[in-house]
Parts: sequence; C-alpha cells; structure tokens
Amino acid sequence: MDFQNNLDFALQLDKQDPLACFRDEFIIPQHNGHDMIYLCGNSLGLQPKATASVIAGQLDNWSKYAVEGWFDGDTPWMFYHKQLTNSLANIVGALPAEVVAMNTLTVNLHFLLVSFYISNNKRYKIIMEGGAFPSDQYAVESQVRFHGYDPKEAIIEVFPRDGEDTLRTEDILQKISENAGELALVLFGGINYYTGQFYDLETITKAGHKAGAFVGFDLAHAAGNVPLKLHDWGVDFACWCSYKYINSSPGGISGAFIHEKHFANTELNRFAGWWGYREDKRFEMKLGFKPQEGAEGWQVSCAPVLLMAAHKAALNVFDKAGSIQLLREKSKVLTGYLEFLINGINREQSKQIFKIITPKNADERGCQLSIICDNGKAIFDHLVKNGVLGDWREPDVIRLSPVPLYNSFKDVYMAGKILEEAVKR
Ligand SMILES: Cc1ncc(COP(=O)(O)O)c(C=O)c1O
Repeated sequence: MDFQNNLDFALQLDKQDPLACFRDEFIIPQHNGHDMIYLCGNSLGLQPKATASVIAGQLDNWSKYAVEGWFDGDTPWMFYHKQLTNSLANIVGALPAEVVAMNTLTVNLHFLLVSFYISNNKRYKIIMEGGAFPSDQYAVESQVRFHGYDPKEAIIEVFPRDGEDTLRTEDILQKISENAGELALVLFGGINYYTGQFYDLETITKAGHKAGAFVGFDLAHAAGNVPLKLHDWGVDFACWCSYKYINSSPGGISGAFIHEKHFANTELNRFAGWWGYREDKRFEMKLGFKPQEGAEGWQVSCAPVLLMAAHKAALNVFDKAGSIQLLREKSKVLTGYLEFLINGINREQSKQIFKIITPKNADERGCQLSIICDNGKAIFDHLVKNGVLGDWREPDVIRLSPVPLYNSFKDVYMAGKILEEAVKR
C-alpha cells in the first residue's frame, strides 16, 4: 500500500477498516482526558468491556451455589474450560481435543518438558533461539540439570550472524542437522520477545523431526497475533499466555497444545494431578492415574474459574471478529504503517535515527516493531509522557505493537508524530 504521512489518510484507513468497531469492545486507558495510544499488547492486552460482567456472573454463581457451582448453574465449573476450547483451537490452528486452558505459561512449559524432553546418553541436547525469554531459559536450564546434564553442554542456542539482528532459518536448520544424532528437543519461541521475529515454525518442525527430536514452541508472542497451524505442521507441543494478544487479564490463564499423535502414547511422562484424571471417574478417588483423553489429560489442578471467565470474555471478542486471518490482514497494514512513519523520520533527518531490528518482511513478524536509537530511554520517556505507551526492554529496545482488535490507524499516525517530536526536541 502507498502510505501517506497525514491525519486524513489515517482517518480514511480507519473508515475503511471492517474491524474498526472492535475498538469499542475494549476499555481504552486515558491520558490527560484523551484515549491513550496503547501500543503494548505485546506485554498486556487491554481489558474487554465484557470482562467484568462475565467474572461477575461467576461470582454470582459462587454466591448462589457455593460448592455446588462445580456441577450446578448455567456453566458448571467442572466443565467451564470446555467453553474455551473451540476458540483456542481456532487461534492456534489445532483440533479442539489438542488444546486446554490451564496453569500459567512457565508452569505449562515445565509440565510439557516433563513429557517431551526425553533424554538418554545419546540424545539429550535442546536447541533454542539465542536470547529466548529468560523464563524459558531458566525453565530449560533447570530441566536439563534435573535430567543430570550440564546446561552449557546440553543447551545449544542459535544466534544471529555477526552484524545481523535476527535469525536466518537456514542457520537454525544447519544447527539442527549438525546436532541431529544428539538432539532430544527443539524448543523455540513462536515470535521472539525482543526482536519481534516470527520464526518459520513449519520448517523448523520438519527439520526437528527429521533429526529425530520432538519440537515445541512457546507462543507467548504469537498466539492471537499471527495465524498458526499447529496441528497441520505436526508440532508436538506448545504453550502460550493469554494476557498479551488474547487480552485475558494480568497473569491470566495459559494454554497448552499437545498433538493428537501423542494421545495414545503411554510412555510419555506426566506430572499428574487429579484434574487430568478421566472426567467420568474423577470423583471415584481411586489410586492409579488414568488420564482424560486428549490435552485435558495434562491438567493438574482444578480450574481457576475467575481467570477462565476473563479468558472467556476475551475469546468471545475473537469469535465475533471472525478468523485470525482477518485480524492478520489488518495487522500487517497497521504495523506496516508504523514502519513507514518511523522510516519517514529517518528520511526527513537524512540519517538513521531509528533502527528497526524486526524483520522488514511482514510474513516474518507480527504486530510488534522493536526499535533501537541513540538516547532510546529518553525517547521512550517522551512517548510515555505524551500518552503513547509501548515498552522498554533492556538493554536498548523500544517495543511498539499496534494491535488490530483495538488500535486504529489514527493511533499509529499520532504515535509517529510524537516520535518525530521526540527526535526534534
Ligand atoms: C516468551 C515468554 N515466555 C515466558 C514468559 C513468562 O510467562 P509467565 O510469567 O506467564 O510464566 C513470557 C512473559 O512475558 C514470555 O514473553
């Protein structure tokens, strides 16, 4: 698209946007009496207006039914998670039986590593993206130690080439094939939290399997942001959080995917709990764990219903918006517009003030642009002071993420203007 740096153009794009009405589903935080320009869905998504009433509905059930709410009322809590399944399956491209909402993200990563990090003297290595989110690094380090290996030997990180900011798929594949004989697991983020790079998950999955390893993904920055086809790609497992692009409350419930090809595999370890026990026999309270069929068999503890209610309110908005593909189409244009405006500042100043380290190719990124500049923290502070909220990640990146469900082209235009001001000060 031929973008223009003027307000009328941005307003025209908003007028033509079939998803523009969804902004009204959200509570937009205020700054000096105006809507804040919230570009931080990469960290915490905005609150849907319906969230309070959906949670209130469950508080009401609690007050009416008390313990009997597990089986009584309009939405018995025993089965509450099932209402989330179809929407989640659509978001990550899975069969409904392959997904479940449970726990929190790093907790799910640990539980899934229990099942899918199967080491022996020959195969014990894990390949990860260099600079993975620290919680993933700590989870993997501790799992490797738990298996009796030295993280320095067992964890192989793939880094960008010298002078480059993001990974080349060919380098990931090369690392996988070099280590094929010793590789137990390939574990990548779907989108890297720092650079915003969206990895080629299908190709990585194929290569990992060819090397004889399981392949899993942390989709914290990908779920609800980019279209995914976990089932068709044959991914073994994945997990994600719901508080970023899925807008399901701070620390909200996580999701997990286990491919159906693993359902019948009784060799896989699990750290079990009663909520993963066969649903029809759970309350017989018998010795000897018998898992519920499908991803639900990985559940551990009883459902945190209030968090699930927040999740349900947010997933309803996704369902109303239709396919994730529609969101993606807007998202590419919205982020492309932000990129155009930032590059415009560079052009106007005749030098590179802002370096965008996120890939230029829209297919290799989601909503987020990661920007580096001299005086980055001062620029970031100017944005915040003027009502543009992205976030700052040490050591030197400003992350700005226009989200198609609630951000407008006007938001992006205004953010560009305030960035420009910050440079000219
Ligand atoms: C990629 C990634 N992995 C893991 C986490 C940690 O998630 P949690 O604190 O919900 O376990 C985050 C948090 O932002 C993240 O971005």
